Amino acid sequence: MAVPEVVSVVDDNICAAQTTQVISAMFLLQRCYSAGAGARLASLRRLQTTSIAYGSLVPFKLSDIGEGIAEVQVKEWHVKVGDRVNQFDNICEVQSDKAAVSITSRYDGVIKKLYYNVDDVAKVGQPLIDIELDEDLEGASTGDQDSQASEAPKTPAISSSTPTGASVQQNHTKKLATPAVRRIAMENKVNISHVTGSGKDGRVLKEDVMRFLGQITTAPSDTSYTPHAASTPSAKWQPSALKEDQIVPVRGYTRAMVKSMSEALKIPHFGYNDEINVDSLVILRNQLKHVGKERGVKMSYMPMFIKAASLALTKFPMLNASADEKFENIIYKASHNICIAMDTPGGLVVPNIKNCEQRSLWEIAEELNRLHEAGKRQQISRDDLIGGTFTLSNIGAIGGTYASPVIFPPQVAIGALGKIEKLPRFDRDGKVYPANLVKVSWAADHRVVDGATMARFSNLWKEYLENPMIMLSEMR
Ligand code: COA
Repeated sequence: MAVPEVVSVVDDNICAAQTTQVISAMFLLQRCYSAGAGARLASLRRLQTTSIAYGSLVPFKLSDIGEGIAEVQVKEWHVKVGDRVNQFDNICEVQSDKAAVSITSRYDGVIKKLYYNVDDVAKVGQPLIDIELDEDLEGASTGDQDSQASEAPKTPAISSSTPTGASVQQNHTKKLATPAVRRIAMENKVNISHVTGSGKDGRVLKEDVMRFLGQITTAPSDTSYTPHAASTPSAKWQPSALKEDQIVPVRGYTRAMVKSMSEALKIPHFGYNDEINVDSLVILRNQLKHVGKERGVKMSYMPMFIKAASLALTKFPMLNASADEKFENIIYKASHNICIAMDTPGGLVVPNIKNCEQRSLWEIAEELNRLHEAGKRQQISRDDLIGGTFTLSNIGAIGGTYASPVIFPPQVAIGALGKIEKLPRFDRDGKVYPANLVKVSWAADHRVVDGATMARFSNLWKEYLENPMIMLSEMR
Protein backbone atom coordinates (compact mmCIF):
# COMPACT_ATOMS: atom_id res chain seq x y z
CA MET A 1 0.00 0.00 0.00
CA ALA A 2 1.34 3.40 -0.82
CA VAL A 3 1.03 6.26 1.57
CA PRO A 4 -0.11 9.29 -0.36
CA GLU A 5 0.79 11.70 2.34
CA VAL A 6 -0.62 15.02 3.25
CA VAL A 7 0.10 17.92 1.04
CA SER A 8 -0.84 21.18 2.57
CA VAL A 9 -1.58 23.38 -0.35
CA VAL A 10 -3.65 26.12 1.13
CA ASP A 11 -1.41 28.65 2.69
CA ASP A 12 -3.26 31.16 4.79
CA ASN A 13 -0.48 33.68 4.37
CA ILE A 14 -0.71 33.96 0.68
CA CYS A 15 -3.75 34.29 -1.46
CA ALA A 16 -2.84 33.59 -4.96
CA ALA A 17 -4.26 30.72 -6.89
CA GLN A 18 -7.59 29.03 -6.80
CA THR A 19 -7.90 25.69 -5.06
CA THR A 20 -9.87 23.58 -7.50
CA GLN A 21 -12.22 20.59 -7.31
CA VAL A 22 -9.68 18.30 -5.79
CA ILE A 23 -6.93 20.19 -4.19
CA SER A 24 -4.97 23.10 -5.39
CA ALA A 25 -1.51 24.45 -5.16
CA MET A 26 -0.99 27.94 -4.01
CA PHE A 27 0.54 29.60 -6.89
CA LEU A 28 2.25 32.75 -5.79
CA LEU A 29 2.69 35.48 -8.26
CA GLN A 30 6.17 36.62 -7.54
CA ARG A 31 6.70 39.84 -9.33
CA CYS A 32 10.05 40.70 -10.76
CA TYR A 33 10.44 43.70 -8.53
CA SER A 34 9.95 41.67 -5.38
CA ALA A 35 12.59 39.13 -6.30
CA GLY A 36 15.33 40.49 -4.17
CA ALA A 37 13.13 41.78 -1.44
CA GLY A 38 13.86 39.07 1.09
CA ALA A 39 11.07 38.15 3.42
CA ARG A 40 7.75 37.24 1.88
CA LEU A 41 5.89 39.41 4.30
CA ALA A 42 7.80 42.41 3.12
CA SER A 43 7.00 41.41 -0.41
CA LEU A 44 3.29 41.17 0.36
CA ARG A 45 3.27 44.52 2.08
CA ARG A 46 4.90 46.09 -0.92
CA LEU A 47 2.18 44.63 -3.09
CA GLN A 48 -0.34 46.72 -1.25
CA THR A 49 1.23 49.90 -2.41
CA THR A 50 2.40 48.97 -5.85
CA SER A 51 0.52 48.42 -9.04
CA ILE A 52 1.52 46.55 -12.15
CA ALA A 53 0.66 48.26 -15.40
CA TYR A 54 -1.42 46.96 -18.25
CA GLY A 55 0.68 44.86 -20.60
CA SER A 56 3.27 43.90 -17.99
CA LEU A 57 4.80 40.49 -18.44
CA VAL A 58 4.76 38.59 -15.16
CA PRO A 59 6.17 35.15 -14.45
CA PHE A 60 4.02 32.83 -12.35
CA LYS A 61 6.28 30.85 -10.10
CA LEU A 62 5.31 27.64 -8.41
CA SER A 63 5.20 28.62 -4.77
CA ASP A 64 6.42 26.57 -1.85
CA ILE A 65 3.41 24.32 -1.39
CA GLY A 66 4.65 22.87 1.86
CA GLU A 67 5.23 19.34 3.13
CA GLY A 68 8.72 19.42 1.69
CA ILE A 69 7.50 19.22 -1.89
CA ALA A 70 10.30 20.50 -4.07
CA GLU A 71 9.02 19.51 -7.48
CA VAL A 72 5.94 18.36 -9.34
CA GLN A 73 5.38 16.64 -12.64
CA VAL A 74 3.42 18.55 -15.28
CA LYS A 75 0.65 16.17 -16.31
CA GLU A 76 -1.32 18.30 -18.73
CA TRP A 77 -1.47 21.84 -20.06
CA HIS A 78 -4.87 23.41 -20.55
CA VAL A 79 -3.40 26.46 -22.27
CA LYS A 80 -0.90 27.24 -24.99
CA VAL A 81 1.10 30.33 -25.89
CA GLY A 82 -1.23 33.03 -27.19
CA ASP A 83 -4.26 31.84 -25.24
CA ARG A 84 -6.22 34.40 -23.30
CA VAL A 85 -7.04 33.34 -19.74
CA ASN A 86 -9.27 34.73 -17.07
CA GLN A 87 -9.15 34.39 -13.33
CA PHE A 88 -9.89 30.82 -12.24
CA ASP A 89 -9.25 29.35 -15.68
CA ASN A 90 -7.41 26.06 -15.47
CA ILE A 91 -3.78 26.43 -16.48
CA CYS A 92 -2.40 22.96 -15.96
CA GLU A 93 -2.53 19.77 -13.94
CA VAL A 94 0.49 18.75 -11.92
CA GLN A 95 1.21 15.73 -9.81
CA SER A 96 3.44 15.59 -6.79
CA ASP A 97 4.28 12.34 -5.06
CA LYS A 98 1.48 13.21 -2.66
CA ALA A 99 -1.47 14.55 -4.57
CA ALA A 100 -2.87 15.68 -7.87
CA VAL A 101 -3.02 19.43 -8.11
CA SER A 102 -4.79 21.79 -10.48
CA ILE A 103 -3.19 25.14 -11.16
CA THR A 104 -5.52 27.97 -12.05
CA SER A 105 -5.00 31.50 -13.24
CA ARG A 106 -5.36 34.37 -10.89
CA TYR A 107 -5.30 37.09 -13.48
CA ASP A 108 -6.74 38.00 -16.83
CA GLY A 109 -4.16 38.09 -19.55
CA VAL A 110 -2.41 36.38 -22.43
CA ILE A 111 -0.09 33.41 -22.03
CA LYS A 112 3.33 34.32 -23.41
CA LYS A 113 5.44 31.36 -22.40
CA LEU A 114 5.10 27.83 -21.02
CA TYR A 115 8.29 26.82 -19.25
CA TYR A 116 7.70 23.06 -19.31
CA ASN A 117 6.49 20.27 -21.56
CA VAL A 118 4.10 17.57 -20.37
CA ASP A 119 5.94 15.07 -18.11
CA ASP A 120 8.66 17.60 -17.27
CA VAL A 121 9.42 18.17 -13.62
CA ALA A 122 8.64 21.70 -12.47
CA LYS A 123 10.64 23.03 -9.56
CA VAL A 124 9.15 24.96 -6.69
CA GLY A 125 10.18 28.59 -6.94
CA GLN A 126 10.72 28.46 -10.71
CA PRO A 127 8.35 30.07 -13.24
CA LEU A 128 5.69 27.91 -14.88
CA ILE A 129 4.30 30.48 -17.30
CA ASP A 130 4.70 34.09 -18.34
CA ILE A 131 1.49 36.04 -18.62
CA GLU A 132 0.90 39.46 -20.14
CA LEU A 133 -1.65 41.25 -18.01
CA ASP A 134 -4.84 42.61 -19.53
CA GLU A 135 -5.12 45.48 -17.11
CA ASP A 136 -3.47 47.32 -14.30
CA LEU A 137 -3.39 45.41 -11.05
CA GLU A 138 -5.07 48.13 -9.11
CA GLY A 139 -6.05 45.62 -6.43
CA ALA A 140 -2.43 45.69 -5.37
CA SER A 141 -2.54 49.38 -4.67
CA THR A 142 -5.75 49.76 -2.73
CA GLY A 143 -3.92 50.42 0.45
CA ASP A 144 -6.08 47.81 2.15
CA GLN A 145 -4.45 46.86 5.45
CA ASP A 146 -5.42 43.25 5.09
CA SER A 147 -2.67 41.77 3.01
CA GLN A 148 -4.79 38.73 2.16
CA ALA A 149 -7.61 40.89 0.92
CA SER A 150 -5.30 43.04 -1.12
CA GLU A 151 -3.76 39.95 -2.64
CA ALA A 152 -7.10 38.49 -3.57
CA PRO A 153 -8.30 38.73 -7.14
CA LYS A 154 -10.42 41.76 -7.85
CA THR A 155 -14.13 41.02 -7.63
CA PRO A 156 -13.85 37.43 -8.76
CA ALA A 157 -16.81 36.18 -10.71
CA ILE A 158 -18.47 33.76 -8.35
CA SER A 159 -20.54 31.28 -10.23
CA SER A 160 -21.97 28.06 -9.00
CA SER A 161 -20.19 24.85 -9.70
CA THR A 162 -23.26 22.91 -8.72
CA PRO A 163 -24.45 20.26 -11.14
CA THR A 164 -27.04 22.64 -12.54
CA GLY A 165 -24.30 25.02 -13.51
CA ALA A 166 -26.63 27.90 -12.71
CA SER A 167 -25.01 31.15 -11.75
CA VAL A 168 -25.52 32.23 -8.19
CA GLN A 169 -24.71 35.35 -6.32
CA GLN A 170 -21.96 35.35 -3.78
CA ASN A 171 -23.53 34.88 -0.38
CA HIS A 172 -20.81 34.21 2.09
CA THR A 173 -22.23 36.18 4.94
CA LYS A 174 -24.88 33.99 6.53
CA LYS A 175 -22.87 30.83 7.17
CA LEU A 176 -20.42 30.60 10.03
CA ALA A 177 -16.92 30.07 8.70
CA THR A 178 -13.43 31.39 9.25
CA PRO A 179 -11.96 33.81 6.70
CA ALA A 180 -9.56 31.10 5.56
CA VAL A 181 -12.45 28.72 4.82
CA ARG A 182 -14.39 31.48 3.07
CA ARG A 183 -11.41 32.14 0.91
CA ILE A 184 -11.01 28.46 -0.01
CA ALA A 185 -14.70 28.43 -0.95
CA MET A 186 -14.36 31.61 -2.96
CA GLU A 187 -11.26 30.43 -4.75
CA ASN A 188 -13.09 27.27 -5.72
CA LYS A 189 -16.14 29.21 -6.90
CA VAL A 190 -18.22 27.57 -4.20
CA ASN A 191 -21.09 29.49 -2.72
CA ILE A 192 -20.52 28.77 0.94
CA SER A 193 -24.22 29.05 1.70
CA HIS A 194 -24.66 25.81 -0.25
CA VAL A 195 -22.20 23.91 1.92
CA THR A 196 -23.47 21.95 4.89
CA GLY A 197 -21.35 22.83 7.89
CA SER A 198 -20.30 20.02 10.20
CA GLY A 199 -18.70 22.28 12.81
CA LYS A 200 -20.18 23.74 15.96
CA ASP A 201 -23.47 25.56 15.30
CA GLY A 202 -23.25 24.53 11.65
CA ARG A 203 -19.92 26.21 11.11
CA VAL A 204 -18.52 25.38 7.68
CA LEU A 205 -15.10 23.75 7.99
CA LYS A 206 -12.45 23.38 5.37
CA GLU A 207 -13.29 19.66 5.21
CA ASP A 208 -16.91 20.54 4.37
CA VAL A 209 -15.84 22.66 1.44
CA MET A 210 -13.48 19.97 0.19
CA ARG A 211 -16.22 17.36 0.56
CA PHE A 212 -18.59 19.60 -1.34
CA LEU A 213 -16.01 19.95 -4.07
CA GLY A 214 -15.61 16.20 -4.22
CA GLN A 215 -19.33 15.81 -4.83
CA ILE A 216 -19.17 18.32 -7.62
CA THR A 217 -16.26 16.46 -9.12
CA THR A 218 -18.36 13.34 -9.49
CA ALA A 219 -21.58 14.98 -10.58
CA PRO A 220 -22.70 13.46 -13.85
CA SER A 221 -23.26 16.85 -15.44
CA ASP A 222 -19.80 18.12 -14.53
CA THR A 223 -18.23 18.51 -17.91
CA SER A 224 -15.22 20.51 -16.82
CA TYR A 225 -12.95 17.50 -16.80
CA THR A 226 -11.35 16.27 -19.99
CA PRO A 227 -9.77 12.88 -19.44
CA HIS A 228 -6.07 12.60 -20.14
CA ALA A 229 -6.02 10.28 -23.09
CA ALA A 230 -2.43 9.37 -22.35
CA SER A 231 -3.25 8.19 -18.85
CA THR A 232 -5.87 5.60 -19.70
CA PRO A 233 -4.55 2.06 -19.37
CA SER A 234 -5.36 1.25 -22.99
CA ALA A 235 -3.44 4.28 -24.24
CA LYS A 236 -0.40 3.32 -22.17
CA TRP A 237 -0.37 -0.32 -23.09
CA GLN A 238 2.23 -1.18 -25.65
CA PRO A 239 1.76 -4.67 -27.07
CA SER A 240 5.18 -4.74 -28.79
CA ALA A 241 8.31 -5.74 -26.89
CA LEU A 242 10.75 -2.97 -25.93
CA LYS A 243 13.55 -2.55 -28.44
CA GLU A 244 15.88 -1.04 -25.87
CA ASP A 245 16.02 -0.41 -22.14
CA GLN A 246 13.66 2.29 -20.97
CA ILE A 247 14.27 4.54 -17.99
CA VAL A 248 11.08 5.41 -16.14
CA PRO A 249 11.39 8.05 -13.41
CA VAL A 250 9.73 7.18 -10.12
CA ARG A 251 7.04 9.82 -9.79
CA GLY A 252 3.56 10.56 -8.50
CA TYR A 253 1.73 7.88 -6.55
CA THR A 254 4.60 5.44 -7.10
CA ARG A 255 6.94 7.76 -5.26
CA ALA A 256 4.57 7.81 -2.29
CA MET A 257 4.44 4.02 -2.45
CA VAL A 258 8.24 3.81 -2.22
CA LYS A 259 8.17 5.89 0.93
CA SER A 260 5.34 4.16 2.72
CA MET A 261 6.39 0.66 1.80
CA SER A 262 9.92 1.35 3.02
CA GLU A 263 8.33 2.40 6.32
CA ALA A 264 6.19 -0.72 6.33
CA LEU A 265 9.31 -2.88 6.17
CA LYS A 266 9.99 -1.95 9.77
CA ILE A 267 6.74 -3.57 10.89
CA PRO A 268 6.81 -7.21 12.03
CA HIS A 269 3.92 -8.59 9.99
CA PHE A 270 2.03 -11.76 10.63
CA GLY A 271 -0.56 -13.22 8.29
CA TYR A 272 -3.88 -14.97 8.74
CA ASN A 273 -6.05 -16.37 5.95
CA ASP A 274 -9.57 -17.70 5.75
CA GLU A 275 -12.30 -18.62 3.31
CA ILE A 276 -15.72 -16.94 3.36
CA ASN A 277 -18.87 -18.42 1.89
CA VAL A 278 -20.65 -15.50 0.25
CA ASP A 279 -23.71 -17.30 -1.16
CA SER A 280 -26.14 -15.08 0.75
CA LEU A 281 -24.07 -11.99 0.09
CA VAL A 282 -24.16 -12.64 -3.65
CA ILE A 283 -27.98 -12.76 -3.52
CA LEU A 284 -28.17 -9.58 -1.44
CA ARG A 285 -25.72 -7.77 -3.64
CA ASN A 286 -27.61 -8.71 -6.83
CA GLN A 287 -30.80 -7.29 -5.31
CA LEU A 288 -29.07 -4.11 -4.19
CA LYS A 289 -27.31 -3.77 -7.52
CA HIS A 290 -30.70 -3.31 -9.21
CA VAL A 291 -31.87 -0.85 -6.56
CA GLY A 292 -28.56 0.96 -7.01
CA LYS A 293 -29.20 1.41 -10.72
CA GLU A 294 -32.40 3.28 -9.88
CA ARG A 295 -30.59 5.36 -7.28
CA GLY A 296 -27.60 6.06 -9.48
CA VAL A 297 -25.23 4.32 -7.06
CA LYS A 298 -23.04 1.41 -8.06
CA MET A 299 -23.29 -1.28 -5.39
CA SER A 300 -20.38 -3.71 -5.63
CA TYR A 301 -19.28 -6.13 -2.92
CA MET A 302 -16.81 -3.65 -1.54
CA PRO A 303 -19.28 -1.56 0.53
CA MET A 304 -20.40 -4.77 2.22
CA PHE A 305 -16.84 -5.85 2.97
CA ILE A 306 -16.20 -2.36 4.35
CA LYS A 307 -19.35 -2.15 6.47
CA ALA A 308 -18.76 -5.64 7.89
CA ALA A 309 -15.20 -4.61 8.77
CA SER A 310 -16.44 -1.47 10.51
CA LEU A 311 -18.99 -3.43 12.55
CA ALA A 312 -16.30 -5.92 13.55
CA LEU A 313 -13.87 -3.11 14.39
CA THR A 314 -16.44 -1.78 16.86
CA LYS A 315 -15.81 -4.93 18.87
CA PHE A 316 -12.06 -5.05 18.12
CA PRO A 317 -10.85 -1.44 18.41
CA MET A 318 -7.25 -2.61 18.79
CA LEU A 319 -7.26 -3.29 15.04
CA ASN A 320 -8.40 0.23 14.22
CA ALA A 321 -5.41 1.76 15.90
CA SER A 322 -1.93 3.17 15.60
CA ALA A 323 1.02 3.49 17.95
CA ASP A 324 2.61 6.76 18.99
CA GLU A 325 6.08 7.58 17.69
CA LYS A 326 8.01 5.99 20.54
CA PHE A 327 5.68 3.05 20.63
CA GLU A 328 4.76 3.76 24.23
CA ASN A 329 1.00 4.08 23.67
CA ILE A 330 -1.49 2.57 21.28
CA ILE A 331 -4.23 4.93 20.13
CA TYR A 332 -7.56 3.24 19.48
CA LYS A 333 -9.23 5.43 16.87
CA ALA A 334 -12.87 6.35 17.33
CA SER A 335 -13.49 6.89 13.63
CA HIS A 336 -13.43 3.98 11.23
CA ASN A 337 -11.76 5.70 8.31
CA ILE A 338 -11.37 2.67 6.11
CA CYS A 339 -8.76 2.90 3.38
CA ILE A 340 -9.35 1.28 0.02
CA ALA A 341 -6.39 0.19 -2.08
CA MET A 342 -7.23 1.52 -5.50
CA ASP A 343 -5.71 0.67 -8.82
CA THR A 344 -5.58 3.87 -10.89
CA PRO A 345 -3.93 4.94 -14.15
CA GLY A 346 -1.31 6.67 -11.97
CA GLY A 347 -0.65 3.56 -9.88
CA LEU A 348 -1.77 2.40 -6.47
CA VAL A 349 -3.43 5.00 -4.28
CA VAL A 350 -5.12 4.46 -0.93
CA PRO A 351 -7.90 6.95 -0.11
CA ASN A 352 -10.20 6.35 2.82
CA ILE A 353 -13.91 6.51 3.50
CA LYS A 354 -14.40 8.53 6.63
CA ASN A 355 -16.55 7.43 9.57
CA CYS A 356 -17.77 4.15 8.14
CA GLU A 357 -19.18 3.37 11.58
CA GLN A 358 -21.75 6.13 11.00
CA ARG A 359 -22.51 5.45 7.36
CA SER A 360 -25.11 3.20 5.79
CA LEU A 361 -24.22 0.74 3.03
CA TRP A 362 -25.52 3.21 0.46
CA GLU A 363 -23.47 6.05 1.89
CA ILE A 364 -20.36 3.90 1.80
CA ALA A 365 -21.16 2.88 -1.77
CA GLU A 366 -21.59 6.54 -2.78
CA GLU A 367 -18.27 7.46 -1.23
CA LEU A 368 -16.56 4.52 -2.91
CA ASN A 369 -18.07 5.53 -6.27
CA ARG A 370 -16.86 9.09 -5.78
CA LEU A 371 -13.33 8.01 -4.84
CA HIS A 372 -13.19 5.49 -7.65
CA GLU A 373 -14.10 8.15 -10.20
CA ALA A 374 -11.61 10.61 -8.71
CA GLY A 375 -8.96 7.86 -8.75
CA LYS A 376 -9.53 7.21 -12.44
CA ARG A 377 -8.81 10.88 -13.06
CA GLN A 378 -5.87 10.85 -10.61
CA GLN A 379 -7.61 13.60 -8.73
CA ILE A 380 -8.05 12.23 -5.27
CA SER A 381 -8.05 15.03 -2.76
CA ARG A 382 -5.77 15.48 0.19
CA ASP A 383 -8.73 15.17 2.52
CA ASP A 384 -9.52 11.74 1.12
CA LEU A 385 -5.95 10.58 1.57
CA ILE A 386 -5.36 11.51 5.18
CA GLY A 387 -6.53 10.01 8.43
CA GLY A 388 -7.03 6.37 7.39
CA THR A 389 -7.26 3.90 10.26
CA PHE A 390 -7.63 0.45 8.64
CA THR A 391 -7.21 -0.85 5.09
CA LEU A 392 -8.95 -3.26 2.74
CA SER A 393 -7.53 -4.24 -0.62
CA ASN A 394 -9.86 -5.88 -3.10
CA ILE A 395 -7.27 -7.39 -5.38
CA GLY A 396 -9.97 -9.87 -6.43
CA ALA A 397 -11.47 -7.11 -8.57
CA ILE A 398 -8.49 -7.80 -10.82
CA GLY A 399 -8.03 -11.50 -10.07
CA GLY A 400 -6.23 -13.90 -7.79
CA THR A 401 -7.10 -15.91 -4.73
CA TYR A 402 -4.63 -14.97 -1.99
CA ALA A 403 -2.37 -12.01 -1.36
CA SER A 404 0.18 -11.03 1.25
CA PRO A 405 -0.87 -7.48 1.99
CA VAL A 406 1.56 -5.01 3.48
CA ILE A 407 0.41 -2.82 6.36
CA PHE A 408 -0.13 0.84 5.54
CA PRO A 409 1.73 2.67 8.34
CA PRO A 410 0.86 3.93 10.91
CA GLN A 411 -2.08 1.52 10.82
CA VAL A 412 -1.84 -1.93 12.36
CA ALA A 413 -3.95 -4.16 10.12
CA ILE A 414 -4.93 -4.73 6.52
CA GLY A 415 -7.05 -7.26 4.67
CA ALA A 416 -6.81 -8.38 1.05
CA LEU A 417 -9.69 -10.07 -0.74
CA GLY A 418 -9.38 -12.51 -3.59
CA LYS A 419 -11.81 -13.11 -6.41
CA ILE A 420 -15.21 -14.55 -5.58
CA GLU A 421 -15.29 -17.96 -7.24
CA LYS A 422 -17.73 -20.83 -7.52
CA LEU A 423 -16.09 -23.92 -6.10
CA PRO A 424 -17.38 -27.29 -4.92
CA ARG A 425 -18.06 -27.55 -1.19
CA PHE A 426 -20.10 -29.84 1.05
CA ASP A 427 -23.45 -28.70 2.38
CA ARG A 428 -24.82 -29.72 5.82
CA ASP A 429 -26.08 -33.01 4.41
CA GLY A 430 -22.67 -33.84 3.03
CA LYS A 431 -23.69 -33.19 -0.57
CA VAL A 432 -21.38 -31.33 -2.90
CA TYR A 433 -22.77 -28.06 -4.18
CA PRO A 434 -21.33 -25.01 -6.01
CA ALA A 435 -20.45 -22.47 -3.32
CA ASN A 436 -19.51 -18.82 -3.84
CA LEU A 437 -16.25 -18.39 -2.00
CA VAL A 438 -13.79 -15.62 -1.38
CA LYS A 439 -10.46 -15.83 0.40
CA VAL A 440 -9.29 -13.15 2.77
CA SER A 441 -5.64 -12.60 3.68
CA TRP A 442 -5.05 -10.47 6.76
CA ALA A 443 -1.78 -8.93 7.89
CA ALA A 444 -1.33 -7.30 11.28
CA ASP A 445 1.43 -5.60 13.23
CA HIS A 446 2.56 -8.27 15.68
CA ARG A 447 3.79 -5.63 18.12
CA VAL A 448 0.19 -4.53 18.60
CA VAL A 449 -2.05 -7.41 17.55
CA ASP A 450 -1.75 -11.07 18.44
CA GLY A 451 -2.91 -13.96 16.28
CA ALA A 452 -5.90 -14.86 18.46
CA THR A 453 -7.28 -11.32 18.25
CA MET A 454 -6.85 -11.28 14.50
CA ALA A 455 -8.60 -14.64 14.19
CA ARG A 456 -11.52 -13.54 16.38
CA PHE A 457 -11.92 -10.33 14.41
CA SER A 458 -11.82 -12.26 11.14
CA ASN A 459 -14.40 -14.74 12.44
CA LEU A 460 -16.81 -11.93 13.28
CA TRP A 461 -16.26 -10.21 9.94
CA LYS A 462 -16.85 -13.57 8.26
CA GLU A 463 -20.05 -14.11 10.23
CA TYR A 464 -21.43 -10.77 9.01
CA LEU A 465 -20.65 -11.63 5.40
CA GLU A 466 -21.90 -15.20 5.56
CA ASN A 467 -25.09 -14.08 7.32
CA PRO A 468 -25.83 -10.59 5.98
CA MET A 469 -29.04 -10.50 8.05
CA ILE A 470 -26.89 -10.34 11.18
CA MET A 471 -24.87 -7.53 9.65
CA LEU A 472 -28.01 -5.62 8.68
CA SER A 473 -29.52 -6.13 12.13
CA GLU A 474 -26.48 -4.54 13.77
CA MET A 475 -26.43 -1.45 11.57
CA ARG A 476 -27.60 1.77 13.13
N1 COA B 1 -14.69 -10.99 -6.77
C1 COA B 1 -15.60 -11.02 -7.76
N2 COA B 1 -16.10 -9.94 -8.35
C2 COA B 1 -15.65 -8.75 -7.92
C3 COA B 1 -14.71 -8.63 -6.90
C4 COA B 1 -14.22 -9.81 -6.31
N3 COA B 1 -13.35 -9.80 -5.33
N4 COA B 1 -14.47 -7.34 -6.69
C5 COA B 1 -15.21 -6.66 -7.55
N5 COA B 1 -15.93 -7.51 -8.29
C6 COA B 1 -16.89 -7.16 -9.31
C7 COA B 1 -17.74 -6.00 -8.86
O1 COA B 1 -18.81 -6.43 -8.05
C8 COA B 1 -18.16 -5.43 -10.17
O2 COA B 1 -19.16 -6.24 -10.72
P1 COA B 1 -20.42 -5.61 -11.52
O3 COA B 1 -19.84 -5.03 -12.77
O4 COA B 1 -21.33 -6.76 -11.72
O5 COA B 1 -21.00 -4.57 -10.64
C9 COA B 1 -16.92 -5.61 -11.02
O6 COA B 1 -16.18 -6.67 -10.43
C10 COA B 1 -16.06 -4.38 -11.09
O7 COA B 1 -15.80 -3.92 -9.77
P2 COA B 1 -15.02 -2.56 -9.49
O8 COA B 1 -15.47 -1.54 -10.47
O9 COA B 1 -13.58 -2.81 -9.47
O10 COA B 1 -15.58 -2.07 -8.09
P3 COA B 1 -15.27 -2.52 -6.61
O11 COA B 1 -16.11 -1.62 -5.79
O12 COA B 1 -15.49 -3.97 -6.40
O13 COA B 1 -13.74 -2.21 -6.37
C11 COA B 1 -11.73 -0.94 -6.25
C12 COA B 1 -13.27 -0.92 -6.41
C13 COA B 1 -11.25 0.47 -6.35
C14 COA B 1 -11.38 -1.52 -4.91
C15 COA B 1 -11.11 -1.82 -7.34
O14 COA B 1 -11.51 -1.36 -8.59
C16 COA B 1 -9.60 -1.83 -7.32
O15 COA B 1 -8.92 -0.89 -7.72
N6 COA B 1 -9.04 -2.98 -6.90
C17 COA B 1 -7.59 -3.20 -6.94
C18 COA B 1 -6.97 -3.01 -5.58
C19 COA B 1 -5.48 -3.24 -5.67
O16 COA B 1 -4.83 -2.90 -6.62
N7 COA B 1 -4.95 -3.87 -4.63
C20 COA B 1 -3.57 -4.19 -4.58
C21 COA B 1 -2.86 -3.38 -3.57
S1 COA B 1 -1.17 -3.76 -3.51
